[in-house]
Amino acid sequence: MSAYTRQAMARLFDRTAETYDALGVDFFGTFAGELLDRVALVPGERVLDVGCGRGAVLFPAAERVGAGGSVLGIDLSAEMVERTAKDVEARGANASVSLMDAQEPTLPDAAFDVVLASFVVFFLPDPVAGLRSWHRLLASGGRLGVTTFGADDPRWAAVREVFKPFVPPELAWTLAIRSGLFATLEGFGQAVESAGFTGVTSVERVYPVKFADPGHWITWSWSHGQRMFWELIPEDRLDAVRQAVLAELEPLREPDGSVVLAQTVRYTLAHHA
Ligand SMILES: C[S@@+](CC[C@H](N)C(=O)[O-])C[C@H]1O[C@@H](n2cnc3c(N)ncnc32)[C@H](O)[C@@H]1O
Repeated sequence: MSAYTRQAMARLFDRTAETYDALGVDFFGTFAGELLDRVALVPGERVLDVGCGRGAVLFPAAERVGAGGSVLGIDLSAEMVERTAKDVEARGANASVSLMDAQEPTLPDAAFDVVLASFVVFFLPDPVAGLRSWHRLLASGGRLGVTTFGADDPRWAAVREVFKPFVPPELAWTLAIRSGLFATLEGFGQAVESAGFTGVTSVERVYPVKFADPGHWITWSWSHGQRMFWELIPEDRLDAVRQAVLAELEPLREPDGSVVLAQTVRYTLAHHA
């Protein structure tokens, strides 16, 4: 992650925090729910939610572990942490939130029964180092649950092309969060094993994600990691790019005017021996 440092990434997410996962799109919450089903949390467990964002995993996890358990969310974006901590208080949730780096969390060994990391591992400069840290934080017999993105929707290739000319070579990796370690389910599974985990299993699912219209997708794309690509575009080109995106999405409209993105999500589970 050469030119986009961890701090720059955190500041990016600071700027998304206000509308993150709050624009009427069925996305992070759905995947969080499925991750929790697959990990099968039970009451009383101690859970760490790495890269907790606005709490898509944190809040349902807190409900599942109940008053006898605990959930700690960590994130490097101060804005995410502050807003989510306020929500924890307002909801009286059985959870806490802390500003902390996911790759080198400053937490005691063997302090958790479950570590969850939903859509964060690919942002780390050294994902395997992050996985090793999470292994260290798990008690014997503990479980890991990670989500990552699978292949892009081929029908949306032209939309992605619109952004490419603005991505400098040193940020090319940002276009490739589905390459390297993340290119295949098997490859990521091996990375998880190399960090010390056993019993690695992965599944992939494709979800239709619906946007009311192309403009809705554009607004939503500013509210999460995709914002990085918008911010690479010079101010005086923004409107032209927006128009180009709208033009590429026009043929994809459904009869009701909406556009649907086929989002592939991977769930990888593993154990601490
Ligand atoms: C795509 S969001 C996912 C948030 C949440 N897990 C969800 O499913 O909605 C990625 C989150 O990881 C956080 N993040 C990125 N790099 C991080 C790092 N090095 N340490 C901790 N958090 C990080 C971001 O601030 C952001 O909140």
